[in-house]
Amino acid sequence: MPLSGFGRAVQSAIFREGVFGRRPAVPTDGTRLEDAARRAMSRKGFAYVAGSAGSEATARANLAAFDRWRVVPRMLVDTSERDTGVTLFGRHHQSPLIAAPVGVLSMAHSEADLAAARGAREQGVTHVISTQASVPMEQIARELAGSGHWYQLYWSSDDELFESLVRRAEACGSETIVVTLDTAYLAWRPRDLDLGHLPFARGEGIAQYTSDPVFQRLVAERVVAAGEQPRPRPRPTPAGVGTLLSMSRNHPGNTRANLASPVPRAAVETFLDVFPRPTLTWDDLPRLRALTSLPIVLKGVLHPDDARRAIDAGVDGVYVSNHGGRQVDRSVAALEALPAVVEAVRSREASVRVIFDSGIRCGADVFVALCLGADVVGVGRPLAYGLSLAGSAGVSEVLRNLRAEVDLMMALTGCTSLSDLTEDRLVQVGGPSA
Ligand code: GLV
Repeated sequence: MPLSGFGRAVQSAIFREGVFGRRPAVPTDGTRLEDAARRAMSRKGFAYVAGSAGSEATARANLAAFDRWRVVPRMLVDTSERDTGVTLFGRHHQSPLIAAPVGVLSMAHSEADLAAARGAREQGVTHVISTQASVPMEQIARELAGSGHWYQLYWSSDDELFESLVRRAEACGSETIVVTLDTAYLAWRPRDLDLGHLPFARGEGIAQYTSDPVFQRLVAERVVAAGEQPRPRPRPTPAGVGTLLSMSRNHPGNTRANLASPVPRAAVETFLDVFPRPTLTWDDLPRLRALTSLPIVLKGVLHPDDARRAIDAGVDGVYVSNHGGRQVDRSVAALEALPAVVEAVRSREASVRVIFDSGIRCGADVFVALCLGADVVGVGRPLAYGLSLAGSAGVSEVLRNLRAEVDLMMALTGCTSLSDLTEDRLVQVGGPSA
């Protein structure tokens, strides 16, 4: 299918299927997609994916920020040939989209990251493997079979583990390391707190750790140390038994053997110890720069001064994101932060790329973020929702629909390539200070 006709081709395919009474596997509208996922997912699973920090004002602000921009279409431009491609870190991307890192996809679907990776691959969209994935990175990389992937790193408080994760990402073919800066700790998230539910405490979403040789050694040391100290044995409750079962199922190896072993529980405890690194500062970055020659992207940048510092530290990309509102309540919307970061980057080092996520729900959102200077845009929650509804086909369809919508937006606004998407295509409602 010629790329120039992608949007129309997708539209026609949907309508042709409709003639036979077949509807799309996932709703094409972002709000209806979320509603459908709420019905499909478990209460705890949906709370974890949909939930945000505190009053969730940041998540709302992320969406509202898009509403303050309006597109000004231009007429009488031949848009019969359109190119939605962009080259980034040495790879050509057919569309300006990446599959943003999302943890614990096992809460959305039993095939978790493997299905998500297949869906992204089908759409030629780069999948960013999460450190909180439900499947070891090597297996996800195999599923992606050379189609290109990035690795999202949480910088562990254990130096050897941090190095091991980077080495494994390199070895399994990740093309870029994306370091998430905004999650020294998990934020106060009322939806999870009110259910008393943290997936990691049940052994979910820690597959990068339990498959890691350094982590396994830390766990073994913990088991030995614990064996030397008598522990009070709490009376078993049904919920406690459920947690034990979940830990045992999610731990590598045989579930029955795991049930009788102290290792799965020690793995969870070790994870909870080594996950946060609140001491991380700019002074640590040279260590990562020296460790890998892969491009480094810093995720969670919202202030232009931080963008400048990132560039001075020699990074290759700045990722504007507030973690979909999951970390800081009443934070600046990511889209509001984007123009100043773009300005800081462009005036400092034009070759540094700007990646954006937080609040993308439709093709027009992608269009606006690109007009405001993003080189590529990450899609997060909508992929988890598509996954919950139809597995890899759902992920593929969500991405396909966004690609189609962006393509049609370009056709209808007088744009033939992404370089046409500039700020003068937009007006801000109420002026810049609204
Ligand atoms: C982890 O990345 C989370 O947002 O829960």
